[in-house]
Amino acid sequence: MLEAFDFVIFGGAGDLALRKLIPGLYRASREGSLPKDARIIPTCRNTQMVTEYKDKVRAAAEKHLNADEFVVADWDKFAKQIFPVYVDIATKDEHWAALAKLMNDGNNKQRVFYLSTPPSVFSVCCKHLHESGLITNHARVVVEKPLGYDGKSAEEINSQIAEYFREDAIFRIDHYLGKETVQNLLALRFANGMFEQLWDAKSIDHVQITISETVGLEGRASFYDGAGAARDMVQNHILQLLCLVAMESPNKMTADRIRAEKIKVLESLRPLTGNTVKYNTVRGQYVAGEMAGQAVPGYLDELGKQSDTETYVAIRAYVDTARWANVPFYLRTGKRMKQRFAEIVIQYKEAHKVYPESAGYVTPNRLVIRLQPEESIKIIMVSKDLEKHETHLRPVSLNLNFADTYKDFYSDAYKRLMLDAAAGDASLFIHRAEVDAAWGWIDPIIEAWQRPENKPHGYVAGSWGPQASQQLLASDRRRWFSIDEVLSGAEQEW
Ligand code: BG6
Repeated sequence: MLEAFDFVIFGGAGDLALRKLIPGLYRASREGSLPKDARIIPTCRNTQMVTEYKDKVRAAAEKHLNADEFVVADWDKFAKQIFPVYVDIATKDEHWAALAKLMNDGNNKQRVFYLSTPPSVFSVCCKHLHESGLITNHARVVVEKPLGYDGKSAEEINSQIAEYFREDAIFRIDHYLGKETVQNLLALRFANGMFEQLWDAKSIDHVQITISETVGLEGRASFYDGAGAARDMVQNHILQLLCLVAMESPNKMTADRIRAEKIKVLESLRPLTGNTVKYNTVRGQYVAGEMAGQAVPGYLDELGKQSDTETYVAIRAYVDTARWANVPFYLRTGKRMKQRFAEIVIQYKEAHKVYPESAGYVTPNRLVIRLQPEESIKIIMVSKDLEKHETHLRPVSLNLNFADTYKDFYSDAYKRLMLDAAAGDASLFIHRAEVDAAWGWIDPIIEAWQRPENKPHGYVAGSWGPQASQQLLASDRRRWFSIDEVLSGAEQEW
């Protein structure tokens, strides 16, 4: 059980706090992992917000939690641990002193400062924490992505925070690392000898990593238009998933060793620069279409102005290590896609052909790791069709569906990561060198996208993205994986 801690959320009434942070802490309280004397201290921008805070946060929790999770008695118990305060981050006044008085009560507890704010105020917030005597030996700071706009701005932000906090007290969050199946990927790889033997260029044909979303701009137009899919999703979530697939064994599951292995992967990514960008990447932007039978506007209509920002990216990447020599990693992410899911597919090489053509297409083995909406691991294998006398082969799936095994379990990445930060466990957080290396790979790609020939392709909202993304794989005689297509036998040899 964790020791008591204070958990301060700057931007306590913001979207992230209401949608993810407070509901995550409530879940922790319900499952008994939030210490009874832990205090949650959200900051508000005025006194009226403080007065209304508990009602507001309760309404948001009812909306964002699953129906059976919100239990009035449990909420009332949890709400007693919330102490909203008024603090204007930018102005060092008596409210900072009041916060210091509340926290510096002689207990010297663990304390976490979660900066759920735009990065532009990180520096001033750290400065005021320091000047108010709030940064003790037990203090940690959690910072949200996006960390910067490019390598240079990320470096500035990291340096500003480093003026006040040691690197081991800085917790850079990437909520994808808190997803249970993402952590399970490490268990799958490093606790199952069977897979570790078959995890390299000798056995694997290629890897696909997809994060497909159905949502559009969701009221975040000004942030999103300045970022785009590469900065919002690829620089962090997708590259982190790639690291976990591609890294070498960390020998020990400690934060330092795991992060050191991930850094090596990021530094081994084959650079995509200048002309190579056009041939290895596809950018897209959605135009008006239909989602679940409802007409939806295009990106530019939602935005209300002209823009070349991409809402879809596909990339062919290579990790230049002996293990992964010439194995393509196909990465893709998009908004307003046909279906919401996140998945990693490890496609094995085709089996040596011994069956006659009449036995049908021998689909290659795949290991399919679903991160969401459901969490599952499947192995696509080939079996004889038992109902046929003559030999006919068909793809079948060996399924490990976590929802069946853990019936009442709600995976909540933010809950997990907030508790880890309170416990001081940095294994699932990003080291400064990872941020640098990830931007080091992404920056030249974004730079090349400024050329006129690299404008985004249009794709219809509710589709599978631009046609050019299918062609990216087809030019390698490969295709994006679809389990329905594979299991129905629709997948054919080239
Ligand atoms: C966030 C991005 O980091 O991740 C959002 O800023 C995106 O644009 C979200 O929608 C996706 O997270 P999840 O967990 O819903 O897949």
